[in-house]
Amino acid sequence: MGFRKKDRVQIKSPQQIELMRIAGKVVADTLQTLSVSVTPGITTKELDAIARECIYGAGATPSFLGYYGYPAVICTSINEEVVHGIPSDRVVNEGDLVSIDCGAIVEGWHGDAAISVIASTNPQPSIQKLSDVTRASLAAGIEAAVAGNRMGDIGSAIQAVIRGAGNYGIVEDYVGHGIGTEMHMYPPVPNYGHAGQGLELQVGMVLALEPMVTIGSPEVITLADDWTVVTTDGNWASHWEHTVAITESGPQILTINTNN
Ligand code: MF3
Ligand code: CO
Repeated sequence: MGFRKKDRVQIKSPQQIELMRIAGKVVADTLQTLSVSVTPGITTKELDAIARECIYGAGATPSFLGYYGYPAVICTSINEEVVHGIPSDRVVNEGDLVSIDCGAIVEGWHGDAAISVIASTNPQPSIQKLSDVTRASLAAGIEAAVAGNRMGDIGSAIQAVIRGAGNYGIVEDYVGHGIGTEMHMYPPVPNYGHAGQGLELQVGMVLALEPMVTIGSPEVITLADDWTVVTTDGNWASHWEHTVAITESGPQILTINTNN
């Protein structure tokens, strides 16, 4: 996925961050609805239809639909699929690990988030742990998204959680990104790095942090549909993402439903 490279970060005013929070809430509400819909027997196309209804129903626009020709509202990536799986007639099976990525636009401002859900009331512990580690690494990255820190502080915080948890792979071919009036903006936000290095973080930056973690090798390839990214070794992967604003009072997650 290419970045529309700009040489400068788009700095948002507090008012603009409030608009992004509205877009973020639409994404969070949609993912909340989807998370309870992920049960054995549902197809990923049905999940996509639910997302479509949630986003348009909220008066927002889905950002993925038509993005470089992408044909759906969400990405649904199952098991060894890492990201960018296209909703289809594929049926979700008991125990599947389903990552759902969702983006919406409100008044020109974007929100982008992803969750991983296991389609089971009794998930396999190793798969639950994969998702939990990925989610915890995202939380650590968010904590490091503080003005005066550097980009490498985010990456190293994410990496430390994953490395400390066991034999996991950190996907390097895809990274987080700046977000604002476009979904993908400068700067890239790697899920690895060196503390104290890289771009200085400032108030008004909004970043999408999105660790992609595998069991084993981090190597990925793209399938012939030109979208679906899978692990080369077939091991399963998890993806969690939030849109995060760097404010005077610290990091604020925009892709949450505060009523949750
Ligand atoms: N939202 C994804 C990301 O986290 C990108 C989705 S690609 C699309 O950056 F084509 F589906 F939009
Ligand atoms: Co993203």
